[in-house]
Amino acid sequence: MIGYGFMGAAHSQGWRVAPRFFDLPLAPTMDVVVGRDAAAVHAAAGKWGWRESATDWREVVARDDIDVVDIVTPGDTHAEIALAALEAGKHVLCEKPLANTVAEAEAMTDAAAAAFARGQRSMVGFTYRRVPATTFARKLVADGRLGEIRQVRAEYLQDWLTDPEAPLTWRLQKDRAGSGSLGDIGAHAVDLAEYITGQRVATVSGILETLVTERPLLGEGVGLSGTASDQRGPVTVDDVALFTGRLESGALASFEATRFRTGRKNGLRVEVSGSKGALAFDLERLNELEFYDATLPPLEQGFRRIYVTEHDHPYLAPWWPPGHMLGYEHGFSHQVVDFVTAVHEGTQPSPSFADGLHIQRVLDAVERSSAAGSAWVPTDA
Ligand SMILES: NC(=O)c1ccc[n+]([C@@H]2O[C@H](COP(=O)([O-])OP(=O)(O)OC[C@H]3O[C@@H](n4cnc5c(N)ncnc54)[C@H](O)[C@@H]3O)[C@@H](O)[C@H]2O)c1
Repeated sequence: MIGYGFMGAAHSQGWRVAPRFFDLPLAPTMDVVVGRDAAAVHAAAGKWGWRESATDWREVVARDDIDVVDIVTPGDTHAEIALAALEAGKHVLCEKPLANTVAEAEAMTDAAAAAFARGQRSMVGFTYRRVPATTFARKLVADGRLGEIRQVRAEYLQDWLTDPEAPLTWRLQKDRAGSGSLGDIGAHAVDLAEYITGQRVATVSGILETLVTERPLLGEGVGLSGTASDQRGPVTVDDVALFTGRLESGALASFEATRFRTGRKNGLRVEVSGSKGALAFDLERLNELEFYDATLPPLEQGFRRIYVTEHDHPYLAPWWPPGHMLGYEHGFSHQVVDFVTAVHEGTQPSPSFADGLHIQRVLDAVERSSAAGSAWVPTDA
């Protein structure tokens, strides 16, 4: 695993817990975690259960005893590490968004396709596909319970940047993160809306805005937990991304991604409305799915709250008795289950690098649309 910040902790938990609850066809071993600060990455290895730590990812990626490379670093490093890992014959799990540019994502997708033919597997970490309620939502749509999809609304709302003195971490720098709210959390909203509906976004019209243009530079720490120094620098990414779109079928969709929505901590919500029914998911209540069955007699209609904790719900079989809830971290175990199973069975894990490239093209289309006065821009769907 390369990187040991927020996602480093989450992925470590996934690798450690998945084999203890699910009957995996292969037994993963947590061999090496890589970072740039020897003492800090050594401490992380001890805490999270990695056998070794190292400071040179190139050396680790070239090792014969490593089969899988898990990339949990910021976006500016994804392409270089993934290409090297695929070249070295490894399976690759890479965090989202796949890369910082379409060109990088294309190179990664080409390399992954060539590697697939050699028996290697690659996957992007759009973890929210693996919350049981979202997987179940996709099944309801696929089973026709919503009929023809007419409208989709997807939003990802957080508030950790509302303080203008919050430090300028890598997520606020275009050369490191690629984009701001758009790629950081908007990418999840697009992927989840597409996953649930089974349709891609075909065209977009968007607007991007930066609300706080200068912030204190990062002092101590990394990522979301960094503290401010007394120097300042420019914010080079969007703070708010608003866009509308059409799905492949022509259905209308609206998207919103912001880290400035006061009071919303991790509000990833998707609402899908169709000719026979509707559903709504909210990550802040991730064990629940709202479902409206418009085929019931009118006097019985109404949104009902399905508690997605039954053993027959997706991924739930090995967990707790019904009603005993899962949390944020379980998605990372489910990700390991799906990835390891695909490696064993020789199938393409989902989402693939090609899926990640498509999302990258949607993000790029939103940026070009915003620069062109919200003109409609086609994606690749
Ligand atoms: N799937 C999800 O829900 C989800 C959630 C958060 C973040 N992410 C993604 O995960 C990735 C990492 O985000 P994070 O929140 O863990 O960031 P973070 O800042 O908490 O951690 C980043 C880690 O990468 C290391 N790093 C940075 N540059 C490096 C380099 N050149 N070489 C080696 N290590 C390097 C840092 O030391 C740190 O350990 C990003 O792509 C982000 O978009 C995904």
